[in-house]
Amino acid sequence: MHSIEYFQSIIQKKIDGFCRVNGDEEILQPVKYIIQLPAKRMRPVLALMSANLFADEVEKVIYPALALEVFHNFTLMHDDIMDNAPLRRGNATVHEKWNTNTAILSGDAMMIQAYQLMCKAPAHNLKDVLNVFSTTALEVCIGQERDMQFEKRNDVSVEEYMEMIRLKTSVLVAGAMKIGAIIAGASEKDQDLLYKFGENIGIAFQLWDDYLDAFGDQAKVGKQKGGDIIADKKTFLLLQAIALSNEEDKKIIEKYKGASQTKNAEKVEAVMSIFENLHLKDLLQTEMKSYYNAAMDALKQVAVAPERKLLLMQFAEGIMQRDR
Ligand code: IPE
Ligand code: IPE
Ligand code: MG
Ligand code: MG
Ligand code: MG
Repeated sequence: MHSIEYFQSIIQKKIDGFCRVNGDEEILQPVKYIIQLPAKRMRPVLALMSANLFADEVEKVIYPALALEVFHNFTLMHDDIMDNAPLRRGNATVHEKWNTNTAILSGDAMMIQAYQLMCKAPAHNLKDVLNVFSTTALEVCIGQERDMQFEKRNDVSVEEYMEMIRLKTSVLVAGAMKIGAIIAGASEKDQDLLYKFGENIGIAFQLWDDYLDAFGDQAKVGKQKGGDIIADKKTFLLLQAIALSNEEDKKIIEKYKGASQTKNAEKVEAVMSIFENLHLKDLLQTEMKSYYNAAMDALKQVAVAPERKLLLMQFAEGIMQRDR
């Protein structure tokens, strides 16, 4: 059995090569900058691991896997503009280091490059692969639009939030699983089961991303601490806090909505202590666990020998305990 690190190293080598062939054009400098920052490479690794369930040789999946990472990094570059985020992977975001127009344009270039790389999928799979990729990419945009719209709304339900994170985050994880499976020649039934695995594990992943945004160790997470609180994001934590807190705490949350930047530190501290007093971490982990279980159920039904699934199971467990 291969290790997770083995698949990560395959991707890192391809990223190094991708950076070497990306020339001196100004527009490509931020592309190389963001993609070289230390990252988990979850989506390409999952695409390779998904393929490896069905095929020992995963060579044909490497460029499509790289395409997924390039696409993901494009979404991060634009997400950081939308979220007004100063830090990414422990370093200045592209719009901070350069400027917003540069981040928009380099992001656009990256999206095109993602398509160029995805087109290196084997010819007989190309139509199916591009179909999954394009559907996924559009869904991510829809999810991102809802994420921003929710900042301004006061009546977002947990169900709406769940659908929003399914779109902005989990469909790309699911799409990665499916693209790997398609290229490795899996049956349609198995492709769909792996999509389901990715969709559920992706939701658990985003729930924990929300938690780490406030409570994670900033040195490991590499993002501005409490960025979601500052931006009035309707995260799982905030929605539960609004639903479960007493009148006094509800007023505190309300008071800080849209507060000026000078209040950032006290806002983050006040809202985090409301989260803590309500023990929302337990609630969030219970929610994560139910999505994790649904992911495992889907994986169990995939028609390959159980020992081939061990690495994916290990990876999913790692997602539940990650600190970055
Ligand atoms: C961050 O993704 C964006 C989300 C969807 C939460 P990752 O947590 O996978 O970030 P990197 O690629 O490892 O930096
Ligand atoms: C990002 O969600 C989802 C996409 C990039 C599409 P977040 O805004 O929570 O991601 P981070 O926390 O900035 O990485
Ligand atoms: Mg963000
Ligand atoms: Mg965002
Ligand atoms: Mg986040």
